[in-house]
Amino acid sequence: HPPVRSICCIGAGYVGGPTCTLLAARCPHIQVTIVDVNPSRIAAWNSPPDPLTGELTGLPVFEPGLGEVVKACRGRNLWFSTEIDEAIRAADLIFVSVNTPTKKSGIGAGYAADLHYVESSTRRIASVATSSKIIVEKSTVPCRTASSMRTILEANSRPGIHFDILSNPEFLAEGTAMRDLQNPDRVLIGCLDTPSGREAADRLGEVYENWVAPERIYTTGLWSSELSKLAANALLAQRISSINSLAAICESTGANIGEVAHACGLDKRIGPNFLRATCGFGGSCFSKDLLNLVYLSESLGLHPVAEYWRGVLAMNDWSKARFAQKVVSTMFNTITSKRVAVLGFAFKKDTGDTRESPAITLCRTFLEDNALLSIYDPKVPHEQIWRDLVNDPSRPSPSPYPGSGGVLLDSSLDASIASLKSSSRVTLASSALEACRDAEAVVITTPWDQFRTLDWQAVFSQMQKPAFVFDGHSGFLDVARLEKIGFKVQAVGRGPEKMDAWL
Ligand code: NAD
Ligand code: UDX
Repeated sequence: HPPVRSICCIGAGYVGGPTCTLLAARCPHIQVTIVDVNPSRIAAWNSPPDPLTGELTGLPVFEPGLGEVVKACRGRNLWFSTEIDEAIRAADLIFVSVNTPTKKSGIGAGYAADLHYVESSTRRIASVATSSKIIVEKSTVPCRTASSMRTILEANSRPGIHFDILSNPEFLAEGTAMRDLQNPDRVLIGCLDTPSGREAADRLGEVYENWVAPERIYTTGLWSSELSKLAANALLAQRISSINSLAAICESTGANIGEVAHACGLDKRIGPNFLRATCGFGGSCFSKDLLNLVYLSESLGLHPVAEYWRGVLAMNDWSKARFAQKVVSTMFNTITSKRVAVLGFAFKKDTGDTRESPAITLCRTFLEDNALLSIYDPKVPHEQIWRDLVNDPSRPSPSPYPGSGGVLLDSSLDASIASLKSSSRVTLASSALEACRDAEAVVITTPWDQFRTLDWQAVFSQMQKPAFVFDGHSGFLDVARLEKIGFKVQAVGRGPEKMDAWL
């Protein structure tokens, strides 16, 4: 393989877009083309800057810092295109960065990864490529997927053309993607232990070495690399479920989960990160990858292993339900016709992504209990919130951009949205303060910085009394300050004050 001069990325989503944009910025000598089957997504990546501010506000993915980098590289060595075949032919190296959602039907439904998009991309590469290439699995896939890709490529490629397959999973987190990509803890490259496999891994390593220190680039076997991605997400999710289980004990004993997490995190073997108790984890990866791991374990006949990881998901479901239950029980066991302000709808701050957001589960539960909701999120488009509120989780979920991911909005979904809108049970507010007007409770579902610095005195004065605040992220709000204003506050992992009465 010659040094890489031209890269194609198939899939212009949350991973493909930011990853290859940063790559283009750090490698001006490499031409980078990001392609997608969804023309509206590509059009959004090519949208012009706002004429007043000069900022790129129309991009399909919101990530702090992303717009500036796209602006600097687009049209120089970075291109967004629907001309998939042309980009494949021109590339020395191709990232496959398409979605791998949980299967909604058929064998393995509810657990297994749907590899349809990976397979169709692979077949397309095989059928149109006219020269040898390095194919890089960027999507998160079950262990040994590279083997299937190799079989498809070998069976369908033109004579004399050779493909090497690498696994190069992505570890970025949304909201901090640009920082994570610029300064990754590690870059993992999995390859076959053959001269050609090792050479392909060297070529990809050289690309990363344009900005990543060589000691942070770790090369392993293909299957270890594939499994490491599932394993890393499973371990991270397990940490959150562990701390959330302890938060429940705190709430019943008067211990404080912030203090417990800090005390445990001081042990170097445990470490301080990722120990924030919350109303449950969300995001497109943790649940999907845990389910994938459970399915893999079941298929291998390793039932206790499957049960072990299933427990992490069960604890997460329970954490969300427990938090919702706390809201209802604290508000005198009924929220019927009470206005509840929900602050935040994205699954974490600094993103507009709502996939698996705990806010969706909580809002649906509150609606089932006949509450009136006022929802505010600084980045999630209103249409997305309506879709998430009515979409039945047992059906394929529409992806954030209509038409992407292969699922189109259907008319029954439109009808459900129209009916919810006309019921006046949900109001989408344009500021946090507006959402809180006349509310009996404020529920913090996403820890956006602006909610911490809100004028809480003003919030209090316009709410019904008693004014309740429920903090779904331990340690996020200054509880003592809020209580001084007059709020009745419940925060995840914080026991009731009366536990200390004997002092
Ligand atoms: P996404 O849904 O945002 O983007 C995937 C894109 O691929 C879509 O725009 C879709 O239209 C496109 N696509 C599907 N099939 C295609 C085809 N045959 N040809 C061209 N384009 C096609 O998904 P994402 O969040 O970017 O995730 C992509 C992969 O990366 C998944 O496997 C995911 O598990 C993994 N991952 C995601 C994250 C994250 O934070 N979102 C982090 C690490 C890894
Ligand atoms: C995750 C992984 O962190 C990343 O490495 C992988 O590539 C993709 O999946 P992401 O889902 O984007 O990234 O965000 P992350 O910061 O991991 O947060 C996921 C969820 O966990 C959020 O809902 C967040 O609120 C929750 N969380 C995180 C906690 O509940 N407690 C914590 O201590 C940390």
